[in-house]
Amino acid sequence: MTKLTASELEHLSEAELQSLLIPDLLPRHIAVIMDGNGRWAAQRGLPRMAGHTEGIKSVRELITLCRDLGIKALTIYAFSQENWRRPASEINALMSLLEHYLQMEMEALIEQGARFRAIGRINTLPESALAWVRKVERATAHLDTLNLTVALSYGGRSEIVDAVRRLAEDVKDDVVKPDQIDEDLLEGYLSTHGLPDPDLLIRTSGETRISNFLLWQLAYTEMYFTPTLWPDFRRREALLALLDYQRRERRFGQTRDQLDPPDDQVDKRTA
Ligand code: FPP
Repeated sequence: MTKLTASELEHLSEAELQSLLIPDLLPRHIAVIMDGNGRWAAQRGLPRMAGHTEGIKSVRELITLCRDLGIKALTIYAFSQENWRRPASEINALMSLLEHYLQMEMEALIEQGARFRAIGRINTLPESALAWVRKVERATAHLDTLNLTVALSYGGRSEIVDAVRRLAEDVKDDVVKPDQIDEDLLEGYLSTHGLPDPDLLIRTSGETRISNFLLWQLAYTEMYFTPTLWPDFRRREALLALLDYQRRERRFGQTRDQLDPPDDQVDKRTA
């Protein structure tokens, strides 16, 4: 674990930063709230969409970094349920950008071995965007180098409500007995089923909220908040986030002398 201070790290090159990472202590799953695209554009006197378009480059760099480091899962918050309240012009432009991203990136995702999956109330997306989501999901379904999950029309509370609704149906149909319901069983009904819980959540732009993202899954996640705006969050910034994460002592509610995570977390984190 590096003992260098943040200001000492600032002077290092990307390659030097990367060499300080301890492979065994890398997160298995990173979740990201990509925030600050609008402010990035406003600072330059550009329309908000310019920030979202530039933000795509940060997505691309983070996917490449995860692949380079062998990080198996990346989940990004691209569009929340609350985002439907934005002006129609921005929503339409974001949906077109999503569609364009999927068209442009499908081959690259396949080459990188990235399995693309969308979570959220996907059926509320415009038809053509939804068609591309399904197409890229199908085209990458056999890949497993990186699990790339994109949250679209997503809300953490709705995800739990939808899971409970399906579980209630199974109880009604006698597939599940009420006394069989525990955390593992409920987790199986969530859209992230099969992924380990995120070890690290990154939120850019100085906001320090979870904003209804992965409410269940973030129970033990380390949080990294940075003032950097999302379009500026490139490989170097991501390496700094990972180095910061590696300084953390993860206790999972235990005392310092019981540092092994509880069995259920070990299982999830190695799944
Ligand atoms: C938050 O910035 C960002 C979003 C609501 C959209 C994020 C989308 C992208 C980076 C591009 C689409 C991604 C994919 C994978 C297609 P903001 O607009 O809230 O910024 P602000 O808080 O500065 O206004």
